[in-house]
Amino acid sequence: MISLFSPAKINQFLRIVSKRADGYHNLSSLFQTISLGDTLNIELSDRDELVCDDPTLPTDKTNLILKAIELFKRKTGLAISFKVKLNKRIPIQSGLGGGSSNAATTLWGCNQLAQTQISVQTLKEWGAEIGSDVPFFFSQGTAYCTGRGEKVLDLPPFPSRSLWIVKPEGGLSTPEVYRRLKFVASELGNENGNDLDSFLSGKLSSFNDLERPAFEIRPDLHQLKETLLSSGFDRVLLSGSGSAFFCLGEGKVLQ
Ligand code: C5P
Repeated sequence: MISLFSPAKINQFLRIVSKRADGYHNLSSLFQTISLGDTLNIELSDRDELVCDDPTLPTDKTNLILKAIELFKRKTGLAISFKVKLNKRIPIQSGLGGGSSNAATTLWGCNQLAQTQISVQTLKEWGAEIGSDVPFFFSQGTAYCTGRGEKVLDLPPFPSRSLWIVKPEGGLSTPEVYRRLKFVASELGNENGNDLDSFLSGKLSSFNDLERPAFEIRPDLHQLKETLLSSGFDRVLLSGSGSAFFCLGEGKVLQ
């Protein structure tokens, strides 16, 4: 049995660059893992099984953990099975990448337990087949991601700093947020390969192009952002497609 930490992520900035013919969007985003995360206990078993301490989480084949196991078995051709016990701490439908992180961790764990010695590069490529954000979770924790998110450029870590994650009741569906983007499509196409340089040199501050469609779907999130800003946080930004925010600095009225 191996016990693995599966971290959440935030997006320090997220630009939607263009809509693609395959329905996905090209993006430009600085991804960062955070200390909030799930724990996966993985062991060899006689059948594939997922159990979770959070009863609201679907543990059927729609769960990315079981998709990752299925993918690993299909790619390697091995007739082996795994049992995963998931300790869920990352809120679901929050934009914090929990499902993708769990999928990457599962692929990594299966590779260890099966002693298959598949390279991380290959696991990363396999991971992209089940989710755009999965390859990022094979990075060292800080990476500039482009394409539909699967092109991962590893970066040296930033100095660690504390932040608040604020997760309101209810989540947001990623496909729904992206679908809503079409209403602002005229403003897209701001193709600009220099986002990372601009951000690192301080010319570009944090932003997230998915905030606008997310706020259209859930106006209460816009209000929540205003409340958090007026409570004293220096910066409040939706993570990914939401519904969680990350906040830098200190707010006065946290409850
Ligand atoms: O890749 P993943 O399964 O996480 O994507 C979920 C959905 O989010 C996609 O079906 C698509 O609607 C949307 N998406 C997108 N562009 C991306 C990533 C996701 O349009 N770069």
